[in-house]
Amino acid sequence: MEDQQSEQSQPPIGEQPPAGEKRPGAEVSLDMPLAEAMSTQRAIRRLTDDPVDDGLVLRLLELALKAPTGSNAQNWEFVVVRDPAVKAALGRQNMRMWKIYGGLGRWLARNDEGQQRILNAVQWQADHFEDIPVIVVACLRSIIPPWPPMAATGLYGSIYPSVQNLLLAARAAGLGAALITLPLWSTIKARRILGLPWKVTPCAVIPLGWPRGRYGPTTRRPVGDVVSLDNYGNRPWAGQGAEG
Ligand SMILES: Cc1cc2nc3c(=O)[nH]c(=O)nc-3n(C[C@H](O)[C@H](O)[C@H](O)COP(=O)(O)O)c2cc1C
Repeated sequence: MEDQQSEQSQPPIGEQPPAGEKRPGAEVSLDMPLAEAMSTQRAIRRLTDDPVDDGLVLRLLELALKAPTGSNAQNWEFVVVRDPAVKAALGRQNMRMWKIYGGLGRWLARNDEGQQRILNAVQWQADHFEDIPVIVVACLRSIIPPWPPMAATGLYGSIYPSVQNLLLAARAAGLGAALITLPLWSTIKARRILGLPWKVTPCAVIPLGWPRGRYGPTTRRPVGDVVSLDNYGNRPWAGQGAEG
């Protein structure tokens, strides 16, 4: 079998469907329980080049659109990229920034095996960007002014909930997906590649495809370590999960 998708140190979750179980032509169900989808959704970067049907992509995007937007503006735009030339152009942008960011990351993570595994997966994605079956670019029909701060919060906050819905729906379908932003390091170049008008802002890129390995578990900080009661820093649940 190919590399595990698990890019951290734990073994894969046994009950996850093995790679290859859900493939084009198979009936794709989105009936996974919500908590299971949320617990196992993660950045899946190694994808096969098996096709992903338009119908499935549209179904996922339909679910993405159930997310909230500020003032119910529904000011989102999604570009589904399938054209190899457009994918290659986005891939070049991704690679350009990855060379800088990845070089720095490798040096910083030189003693951290878990981080190195993630960087290997990011490298794989950068090397195979053109072969990814579908790349969704989530955009906002607005510019994002630098001031006041509330503008950025409200505007980015109107696209990221839909992106998370898309990631969860992809997880339920058995598709691999990740939220990435490196290809958007220059929104001017990204606009040019995608033919976006200046008042449409590209915010996130979501490569989609069938995973090469299994979904692995995510590693997250204990809930009690990031939750305060009444005042910031008052942490009665420190070191605890929800079960105590
Ligand atoms: C705002 C944002 C930007 C991200 N940009 C990238 C990116 O450019 N490339 C990439 O490979 N992953 C990117 N990621 C994915 C994170 O690295 C990933 O979510 C994190 O490592 C947790 O991974 P896990 O869910 O598999 O544990 C981004 C995530 C977020 C939320």
